[in-house]
Amino acid sequence: MSVHEIRHPLVRHKLGLMRQKNISTRSFRQLAGEVGNLLTYEASKDLELEDYTLDGWCGDISAERIKGKKITVVPILRAGLGMLDGVLEMIPSAKISVVGLYRDEETLEPVSYFDKLAGDIDQRMALVVDPMLATGGSMNATIDLLKNAGCTSIRALVLVAAPEGIKAVQQAHPDVDIYTASVDDHLNENGYIIPGLGDAGDKIFGTE
Ligand code: PRP
Ligand code: URA
Repeated sequence: MSVHEIRHPLVRHKLGLMRQKNISTRSFRQLAGEVGNLLTYEASKDLELEDYTLDGWCGDISAERIKGKKITVVPILRAGLGMLDGVLEMIPSAKISVVGLYRDEETLEPVSYFDKLAGDIDQRMALVVDPMLATGGSMNATIDLLKNAGCTSIRALVLVAAPEGIKAVQQAHPDVDIYTASVDDHLNENGYIIPGLGDAGDKIFGTE
């Protein structure tokens, strides 16, 4: 498994803005979508292409199109919804598979409350989107769910990752690549990423 920390200047700039203490809900939400969009661009860089012939304005021409598995985007509720529009701007025809999990505040263990996956998920590449990879519990539970449903190709897109969460995903799912705007320093005693973004779900939904 590889961890891809995207060091593109636009990503660095936008993530910096997201770290501001008093950022508005509107700005945080907009930036989450924009960085999600840029992560999608990076996470799709190595998709295989095939040649085909199309009817162009000057006659038949050769063009390229993406070959192989189609994509399902998998937002982890709630906060993953904040990245969804940005991902879909890049891959508008993707199916959406929703996974509902929240992290128990005491145990930090993920608690499942909903899922609805694309019916043909065994034929698709899954792009799991969630702003925060902290302990890795939510991401690992989602990957377990996807694999149990037959999905064999999975990538994780997160705005910020803690080293602890990366290690947990690496150990449980070495086949899953992680794309992130930043590998941050550590988790604090409450399981929050430092420096991180704070509570991403609350910031996206304005529920702080
Ligand atoms: C946050 C975040 C991840 C999870 C990360 O969700 O969006 O899903 O915590 O933590 P972990 O790596 O330790 O599992 P939260 O439980 O706060 O729910 P929310 O999206 O509804 O705000
Ligand atoms: N969930 C968040 O929203 N932020 C963190 O730092 C960790 C988990």
